[in-house]
Amino acid sequence: MIKIDHLSTSYSTISGPVHVINDVDFEIYDNEIFGIAGESGCGKTTLLKALYDIIEFPMVVDSGKLILSGEKYGKTFSYETGQIRKTWWNNISYVPQAAQSVLNPIVPLKNQFLDSIPKEDKRYKTKEQTLKRVADYLEELSLSPDLLNAYPFQLSGGMRQRVIIALATFMSPNVVLADEPTTALDVVVQRGILMMLMRLQKQLKNTMVIVSHDMGVHYQVTDRMGIMYSGSLVELGKTEDIFEKPIHPYTKMLVGALPRVGDKSPKTGIPGRPPALTNPPAGCRFAPRCQRATEECRKSVPKLQEVEPGRFAACHLINKNGC
Ligand SMILES: Nc1ncnc2c1ncn2[C@@H]1O[C@H](COP(=O)(O)OP(=O)(O)OP(=O)(O)O)[C@@H](O)[C@H]1O
Ligand SMILES: [Mg+2]
Repeated sequence: MIKIDHLSTSYSTISGPVHVINDVDFEIYDNEIFGIAGESGCGKTTLLKALYDIIEFPMVVDSGKLILSGEKYGKTFSYETGQIRKTWWNNISYVPQAAQSVLNPIVPLKNQFLDSIPKEDKRYKTKEQTLKRVADYLEELSLSPDLLNAYPFQLSGGMRQRVIIALATFMSPNVVLADEPTTALDVVVQRGILMMLMRLQKQLKNTMVIVSHDMGVHYQVTDRMGIMYSGSLVELGKTEDIFEKPIHPYTKMLVGALPRVGDKSPKTGIPGRPPALTNPPAGCRFAPRCQRATEECRKSVPKLQEVEPGRFAACHLINKNGC
């Protein structure tokens, strides 16, 4: 469905390029909720922007590409980096980070729905027909159709996020990308949003990609996930396997830091910080924070390797020292 083919990207800055995505290579399948996790600044949003083909200056693709392919209404499609934007809303949609601010606060929601529906969508002949379908769709999502007459500034943060998700899924896209969809919302609202995304995925049987720095969100919602560290994918696999038996020392730290109901043992934070992308260390970028790092780790970059079927990790210690 989405093939990320040896993708490397950078940001052009006055002090030279800052490499943010480094040779990321994996696939996201049909009919799954795929999670992308990692600390702030590791490149999650940059990767999602590349998936959505928002590659605009200062972001540059240095090498590799993305291929979005699938089938909709009996027709197959395939788009590469540079073409994916032709199919925005229809085959792929995007809920950006801090999405709450993407709605124009002083334009009624009905106009924002009408503006987002591609002109080539011929399903509804008149504006009234389109709005009737939007109202029905809101009802299907347990939202009031009266919202269409409201202005975004009148809605709570949680309600605005639900409306944005409704907007992003109205055209039944094959892929929905959601960047930190629950950040800045209280836990009850967060749960409601996650349930909404899960329900929609079951209904559409499509692909959802959820970016979150919150491992708890991945545990609750995603089927498979990738862990990013300093612009690289360091682990990939089924979410339950990653939580049950993390392989990469960084994933072990992320999973170990997650509180669990009933577990009163003290939690250890993750010592240190990710390296500055402007001046990353040689070798494995996690080595300066890894208690088991060896000379090899400080010298050469570990490649992502298949450890078990469908389970990948990038660490020199695999099969050594019980990594
Ligand atoms: N327009 C830009 N110009 C230069 N550097 C940028 C630009 N946008 C992002 N970066 C850098 O790229 C790196 C990755 O940023 P990105 O937003 O992808 O991280 P993230 O994992 O989504 O972080 P967060 O969890 O805080 O949202 C950061 O170091 C950031 O400073
Ligand atoms: Mg981000």
